Amino acid sequence: MTIRLEQPKDWREVENLTREAFWNVYRPGCQEHFVLNQYRSNPAFIPELDFVMEEDGRIIGHVMFSKAKITLSDGTVFPSWTFGPISIHPDYKRKGYGIKLLQYALEKAREMGIGLLQMEGNIDFYKHAGFDLASKIRIHYHGEPTDAEVPYFLAQELIPGYWGNREGTYCPPAGYFVADAQPEAFAAYEAGFPPKEKHLKPGQLPQFCQNCGMPLTKDEDYGNNQAA
Ligand SMILES: CC(C)(COP(=O)(O)OP(=O)(O)OC[C@H]1O[C@@H](n2cnc3c(N)ncnc32)[C@H](O)[C@@H]1OP(=O)(O)O)[C@@H](O)C(=O)NCCC(=O)NCCS
Repeated sequence: MTIRLEQPKDWREVENLTREAFWNVYRPGCQEHFVLNQYRSNPAFIPELDFVMEEDGRIIGHVMFSKAKITLSDGTVFPSWTFGPISIHPDYKRKGYGIKLLQYALEKAREMGIGLLQMEGNIDFYKHAGFDLASKIRIHYHGEPTDAEVPYFLAQELIPGYWGNREGTYCPPAGYFVADAQPEAFAAYEAGFPPKEKHLKPGQLPQFCQNCGMPLTKDEDYGNNQAA
C-alpha cells in the first residue's frame, strides 16, 4: 500500500472512486464526487494535502483538505481547516485503509502548521484518529444552539494550544454545497458517469419531498429509482 499526492491524471479515477464510496450512503446517490471535482479550483483547496492511496495497482482511497473559518464569540474570524470527502473503495472498506490514510494526512497537515480541524462525521471512525466532539472544546455548529452537543460535529487540535480556550462557531465552507447551489451543472456532470441506481436506505440523512416537504421513507416515495 502506498500513499502519494493526487495528480491531474488521477482526477477522473478518483472522482469515480468517491462516487462509488459515497453512493447511497448518506442520501440516494451522492454529491461528493462533484464537490471534489469543483473544489480543486477553489482557493480554499490545499493541493499539498490531496492524497491518494494505492493498493493492488489501483487507487483505492482519497482524502482532501480545505481552509475554513471559525467565527469567535467576539465576532472575529479565526483561521481553521477541515477535510473531506475521504473515500475508501467499497471493496476495501473496514480493512484499516481509511484510518491509515487519515493518520498519514493528519501528520502531513500538522507538519504544515495546520493547528485545528473540524468536520462532520461518524465519531466511531474518527475517534481512531484523535477526533472528539467539537463541543468539548467550545466549537459550536452553525444553526445549532451553543449549548447543544452535536454528535456528528467533531474537532481536533493538531497543534497543542492552537485553539486554546477560545469559543466560536463553525460554518462549513460554501464549496461543500456546490451540488445544491448548481443543480444543473451537477446533473450534467453526473450524466457523464455510468448509470447507478439510487436507493433510500436506513442510516441515510432524512430526505424530504422538494415540492411539499413530506419526509420520504421508501424508494417509491423518492420517485427517482432509476439510473441517475
Ligand atoms: C468512512 C471510511 C473512509 C472508513 O474507511 P475504512 O477503511 O472503511 O475504515 P477502517 O477499516 O480504517 O476503520 C477503522 C475503524 O473505524 C471504525 N469505522 C470505520 N468505518 C465506520 C463506519 N462507517 N461507521 C462506524 N465505524 C466505522 C471501525 O471501528 C473500524 O474498525 P473495525 O473495522 O475494526 O470495526 C470508508 O468506509 C468510506 O469511504 N465510507 C464511505 C464514504 C464516507 O462515509 N466517508 C466519510 C464521510 S464523513
